Amino acid sequence: MEHVRQFTVVGKKLETTDSVTLTLQPVDGLPFTYQPGQYLSFVFQSATGDQRRAYSFSTCVGVDALPQVTVKRVVNGAYSTQLVRETEVGDTVFAAGPSGLFTLPKPLPSTIIYLCAGSGITPVMSHLKYLLEVETNAKPHIVLFYANRTAAQTIFKKQLDTLAAAHPDRFTLIYIFSRESGEKQALHGHMNNALFEQLLKKHVGASRIRRGAMAYLCAPTALIRMGAMTLRLLDMPDENIRREVFVPDNRLTLRTVDKSKTHTIRLSGNPEPISFETYEGETILNAALRQGIALPYTCKSGVCFTCLAKCIKGEVDVAFFDAVKREGPGQMVNTCIGYAVSKEVEIAVSG
Ligand code: FES
Repeated sequence: MEHVRQFTVVGKKLETTDSVTLTLQPVDGLPFTYQPGQYLSFVFQSATGDQRRAYSFSTCVGVDALPQVTVKRVVNGAYSTQLVRETEVGDTVFAAGPSGLFTLPKPLPSTIIYLCAGSGITPVMSHLKYLLEVETNAKPHIVLFYANRTAAQTIFKKQLDTLAAAHPDRFTLIYIFSRESGEKQALHGHMNNALFEQLLKKHVGASRIRRGAMAYLCAPTALIRMGAMTLRLLDMPDENIRREVFVPDNRLTLRTVDKSKTHTIRLSGNPEPISFETYEGETILNAALRQGIALPYTCKSGVCFTCLAKCIKGEVDVAFFDAVKREGPGQMVNTCIGYAVSKEVEIAVSG
């Protein structure tokens, strides 16, 4: 079951004109741990009820004493505007997690490629701290392609430059600025398939991409698609490409709810067994929330994977925008787009 915790904002640092890093201290005083690349789901109230926004850690356990998240203001984003412009040291925020699968594997691969833009650097910063300052044995070769408009709008530019200068043998840092030319270590232009392919061949090499390298993509959806497509064309297996997407998928069509037909969902892994009913055509998550059962979620549209649960018994349709996957025992299901197929379904929710 989900556990929403309270945090005091104990630090606020302006990174660029529209992004800040917030340092958080858990109010309950209990230990708080997370993996590089994970995020917190901030919970807040709006006129339409409970809302969630995911913000990645830019810090790393073992390097930073307290967790920090970096928030970029989104145009028309009321909550990100509030965090960037109004939230002050001493304020309280509520968040669930940590969550997320944008994490590093064990053992580490020999080469790790990052492609990010704007605030997409946030979870990557957490990775870099781990790879360059905590994990001292594996020493993978790291190549970061980081796209922004200008140097001044580049989050963590100073820290990245410092890390690159300290590890020239294993950390290659390439900036791509669309509205500025002449900056050291930076290319001028827009990242596209041809440029990415050329940079990958030059800084990584086709054989390393084919064998053993992993790629992490954290950027607007179009850039993630372009990056993945280029890597696939260079024969990187899809399972070696990790994508972090926080923009809800608004192409989903919800099914029609039929209240005359119900399914029983049993949650295992709780001290007391919990069961609840879903209507035909109602997602497992919506049915749980309707009945006051706090299952974890953030995007409610199948992109963030906060809501993942393991199917123990029965069958569930997981309905993405472009495909429906029927999952059974042992498979993971997104409860936010998961519809019970069998009369009885048992799932185990972590967190
Ligand atoms: S809540 Fe994001 S995938 Fe389900």
